[in-house]
Amino acid sequence: MKKKLNLNFWKNKKVFVTGHTGFKGSWLTLLLKYLGAHVTGYSLKPNNKSSLFKEAKIKKIIDKSIIADVRDKNRLYKEIKKSNANIVFHLAAQALVRESYIDPIKTFETNVMGTINILESIRKIKSIKSSVIITSDKVYDIKKNKIFKETDLLGGVDPYSASKVCCEHAFNAFVHSFFDQKRMCSVATARAGNVIGGGDYSKDRLIPDIIRAIKLKKKIIIRNPKSIRPWQHVLDPVSGYIILAEKLYKNKFNKIHSWNFGPDLSNCKTVKYIANKLALSSNSSIKILNEKTKLFKKETVLLRLNNKKAKKIA
Ligand SMILES: NC(=O)c1ccc[n+]([C@@H]2O[C@H](COP(=O)([O-])OP(=O)(O)OC[C@H]3O[C@@H](n4cnc5c(N)ncnc54)[C@H](O)[C@@H]3O)[C@@H](O)[C@H]2O)c1
Repeated sequence: MKKKLNLNFWKNKKVFVTGHTGFKGSWLTLLLKYLGAHVTGYSLKPNNKSSLFKEAKIKKIIDKSIIADVRDKNRLYKEIKKSNANIVFHLAAQALVRESYIDPIKTFETNVMGTINILESIRKIKSIKSSVIITSDKVYDIKKNKIFKETDLLGGVDPYSASKVCCEHAFNAFVHSFFDQKRMCSVATARAGNVIGGGDYSKDRLIPDIIRAIKLKKKIIIRNPKSIRPWQHVLDPVSGYIILAEKLYKNKFNKIHSWNFGPDLSNCKTVKYIANKLALSSNSSIKILNEKTKLFKKETVLLRLNNKKAKKIA
């Protein structure tokens, strides 16, 4: 992976990252700093007691850490402008499916208006040359049981997925109305699958839930153990976002695109497979219980991404 990231390109680039206090945003910040970029982060405070942001002391590593809300469009615009950013990564989101059932309004406001506020800022700020907007693998129309490619129909059924579909539509509207005509900034959306890796303490995510259960010697309750997901290590999509932003900056594509970032099909495993593997590797005897709730009954059983397009640029 190290070989594919272009140190020469990233050295001294000014980069604005939303969601830098989150799981993926922390990894992205670490990687960008490793590549020599100047990074300004913009997010809410980490909402868990433990976080990679705190453990990796990202506040000390990053050039500027701004704790603010992406729904505050004036502040967001002001901070991006002040940072003089050349490249923007937008990761800030209410990123949990269960939370989206509990608070759909916050989920839509944060994810949709947050993205629109970013797009509007990008449109107005001339220093920005490229931007990657992070959506999700959950944007596809799951009624179609297939391996999704970027041109497939969108259609999320839970509030989180639907909010990310709205982001894709807003992106599309901005591209066709503004970016495409003037070519002043190259933007893309990135749709990645479920990520795993160190420093994820989120609730309702498989690996953190299992580790908490193992530590507390509790039974592991998982939803939909038979569901298949495109599991990948966090550094895979994060380095994909970095490569994509560089190519966009250099105007490598004559069309604005969305990109899937996912593992090869052989690595798309069931939730139960991952849970058992983790229990085995930690020498724990765990009992996996299927969560009895109607909340997630619409969640897709089979979610696999076609990654051919991204593989071509890497
Ligand atoms: N983790 C995954 O498996 C996964 C899979 C597909 C897509 N994604 C997407 O990747 C992105 C990052 O996910 P993550 O796993 O790091 O999530 P996370 O929950 O760990 O981090 C979310 C980040 O967004 C910030 N944020 C939330 N609401 C905000 C607001 N109103 N204003 C400013 N900042 C706000 C948080 O402070 C945090 O920094 C999200 O857009 C998510 O939807 C994640």
